[in-house]
Amino acid sequence: MFVLAHLSDPHLGPLPAARLAEISGKRALGYLNWHRSRRERHRPEVLAALVQDLKGAEADHIVVTGDLVNLGLRAEFGRARQWLRDLGAPDDVTVIPGNHDAYMRDAIPHSADYWGDYMRGDGGEHFPFVRHRGPLALIGLSTAVPTGPLLATGRLGPGQLQRLGSILTRLGQQGRYRVVLIHHPPTSPRRQHFKRLTDDAALRCVLAERGAELVLHGHSHVHSLIWLEGPRGRIPVVGVPSASASPHADVDPAAYNLYRISREASGWRCEAIRRGLFAGGPGILELGREELAE
Ligand SMILES: [Fe+2]
Ligand SMILES: [Fe+2]
Repeated sequence: MFVLAHLSDPHLGPLPAARLAEISGKRALGYLNWHRSRRERHRPEVLAALVQDLKGAEADHIVVTGDLVNLGLRAEFGRARQWLRDLGAPDDVTVIPGNHDAYMRDAIPHSADYWGDYMRGDGGEHFPFVRHRGPLALIGLSTAVPTGPLLATGRLGPGQLQRLGSILTRLGQQGRYRVVLIHHPPTSPRRQHFKRLTDDAALRCVLAERGAELVLHGHSHVHSLIWLEGPRGRIPVVGVPSASASPHADVDPAAYNLYRISREASGWRCEAIRRGLFAGGPGILELGREELAE
C-alpha cells in the first residue's frame, strides 16, 4: 500500500511588502485584487490546519500542483520555500508550478531558483520529469507561462507533449502506476476560456494513445473528478480546492486528497479519500471516499 497526498493552490499569504517599482502591469491589477478580495479567500490559518491534518495522515509522498504564490514577487518565493521546507524534504514532496508562479516574465526563474530541488526528476531532469516512489512514477509537467492581464491560461508546448508521450509509453511497459501532475485541468468548461490549458486537446490525445493511471491537477479550486478515455480503459482526472480556501469563500473550502494505491491480482486498486473543511463546520473532516481504479 502506497499513500499519496495531493494538495494544491496554497496561494500563500499575506503578500510581502513590495516596492512601488515592483507593482506594475498585470501585477498592479493583481495587487488591487488581492487587497480587495483574495486575501479573505486564502487564509494562512486555514492552510496551517490543513497541513497539520495532512501530517497526521502519514502519507508516503506529497504532491503540490502549483500556485504557491500570488503575484510572482521574489519575496513570495523565499517564503514559499520555507513553507515547503516545513511540509517536507525535497525527496518527499514533489512540486510543479502554476500560472501564479509565472505571473509575469520576471518571475519565471524564481520557482527553479527557490524550489528547484522539489521540481526535478530522479535524474535531475526538468519538465517533464519523472520521480519513482514505491510502485508509482510521478510525472511532473509545467503549464506555467506568463499571460496578459485578466488571463490565467497555461500551455505545455509541443516539446513537452512529445516527451510526455515517450515517457508514458516507457513507464507503461515497465508496469508502473503512472501519476501525471499538471496545474491546469486537461478539460475546461467553455465559460472558463480565459483560464484554460490552450493545448488541452493535444494533451488528451497523448493520454488517449499512451495511457496513465491517474491525473492530478489544481487551478480550478474545486473538487472535481472526470474520466478521460485511455488505451486500456478510462483514466481518472482529479482536481482539489485551494489548500488555503476560506470556508466563507464562494468556491469549495480548503481540502486535500489521499490516494491509497495497491497492486491487486486483477490490476491496480486506488481508493481516494477527501479531507478538508466542511462549509460552516469545525475543523478538518473526512468529506468522502471512493474507488478510482476501473
Ligand atoms: Fe490557483
Ligand atoms: Fe492557477
